[in-house]
Amino acid sequence: MAAKSRQYTASFPSKSLVNMPVCLAMVGLPARGKTFIARKLARYLNWIGIETKVFSSGNYRRDLYKTQCTHKFFDPDNPEGIAIREHCAKLAMNDIAIWLNGKGQVAIFDSTNGTRKRREKVIQFCKQNSFKLLFIESFCDDPSIVHSNIMEVKVTSPDYKNVSPEQACEDFKARIKLYETQYEPLCLTKDDQVRFLKVVNTGRRFVVNRAEGYVESKVAYYTMNIHVVSRSIYLTRHGESEFNLKGRIGGDSDLSPHGQKFAEVLGEFVNKQNLENLKVWTSQLKRTSQSAQHIKASAEQWKALNELDAGVCDGMTYEEIQEKYPEDFARRDQDKFHYRYKRGESYEDIVIRLEPVIMELERQQNVLVICHQAIMRCLLAYFLEVKKEELPYLAVPLHTVFKLTPVAYGCKVEKFPLGIEAVNTQRERPKNVQVGRKPEDALVTVPPHVM
Ligand code: ATP
Ligand code: F6P
Repeated sequence: MAAKSRQYTASFPSKSLVNMPVCLAMVGLPARGKTFIARKLARYLNWIGIETKVFSSGNYRRDLYKTQCTHKFFDPDNPEGIAIREHCAKLAMNDIAIWLNGKGQVAIFDSTNGTRKRREKVIQFCKQNSFKLLFIESFCDDPSIVHSNIMEVKVTSPDYKNVSPEQACEDFKARIKLYETQYEPLCLTKDDQVRFLKVVNTGRRFVVNRAEGYVESKVAYYTMNIHVVSRSIYLTRHGESEFNLKGRIGGDSDLSPHGQKFAEVLGEFVNKQNLENLKVWTSQLKRTSQSAQHIKASAEQWKALNELDAGVCDGMTYEEIQEKYPEDFARRDQDKFHYRYKRGESYEDIVIRLEPVIMELERQQNVLVICHQAIMRCLLAYFLEVKKEELPYLAVPLHTVFKLTPVAYGCKVEKFPLGIEAVNTQRERPKNVQVGRKPEDALVTVPPHVM
């Protein structure tokens, strides 16, 4: 089959660079973090604008054969178990083909793919469909890591409903033993022709073989930056600014008296947490560094954390923008994520400029980021898997700290309103926004010629 030719009209660079669908196929024994890596990768790729979906063999098995299964199901001498697992792999590959022949750009096949025979089937499947293929193996021979993985995510799996954690752990270890009898790790001698990325013992070593292409290099770089050490990321906007008080956007104004009070309380809150090696990051705008002044840790400034550039509208109120640029104002309401201010930026643009910040956040441990409304929405969208249609409307009130703690396959969010009064800068999504029609509570009509 000929390679699918794709054309993208959007300005987002990633899209034009992914012109051939890519299948990422996980490899590894159970409890090696395959699902963890697959889901995290999908979250990252979707956030940077690459349409990605995970297809997990285990979920097909659980959906189709609702019964709970013990390790005996995974015995290589159990023909029924083998047939079911093969069937689930076929179903997954079938859905991968549908996804990648439709709007999907990357599919992640989350399965053990632990033998060369099985991997050959994946290779042939990708060849027939003209999908690029990269295997991602998570190899881990440290029993303490495997044990803690089982206790963290496996004992609570639907496979062990109503089973005690001790029994579940024992059964899961028996399952791993059965897989081990067949498992063939990827290696440079036997798999020299195969494209693969191998992660050894949660990142102590990496092997990258024949990986080439835009998605593959992004995947390799990202995978090399993530870690599993427990930590928290704290996100907050700066304290209320003089511009916030006047309803003006952008600018570089000082904190208002309430904003200064917030800076004091933020200092007390953060200092009380006693966070080891805390890194504090601010933007290069005054209101964020002023907000960091009472924290007992030095702050580092990132230009990439500066607020969305409103271009010709910088310093104006929403009402003034509506008055002076009615068509632009209405277009922003129709597609806030992609709308770019004249001589300024869009949310889509700031996702791109925040990518290095995300990469560095992945590498770090405890970090407090003091930033701005639009920036915080983009950062939260990455951690909480928020779709781009929802992203520009996320509610991030002033004077509220968000604490994000990675757990299992996602992030736990805790919100701490620090109790200091502030104005509300959230402009809600107008209802019924349509071109050429006056939206219910949007403020202007868009003449049809503007689209
Ligand atoms: P299964 O084959 O049963 O689906 P799995 O390999 O998909 O298992 P996960 O469910 O992803 O395993 O295991 C999650 C755990 O793996 C988490 O506790 C996470 O901290 C840990 N983990 C993440 N990355 C790695 C890695 N590179 N090596 C080992 N463990 C990891
Ligand atoms: O109003 C505060 C502010 O940070 C402005 O500087 C910025 O333009 C705006 O929020 C971003 O929010 P929205 O995208 O909802 O206009």
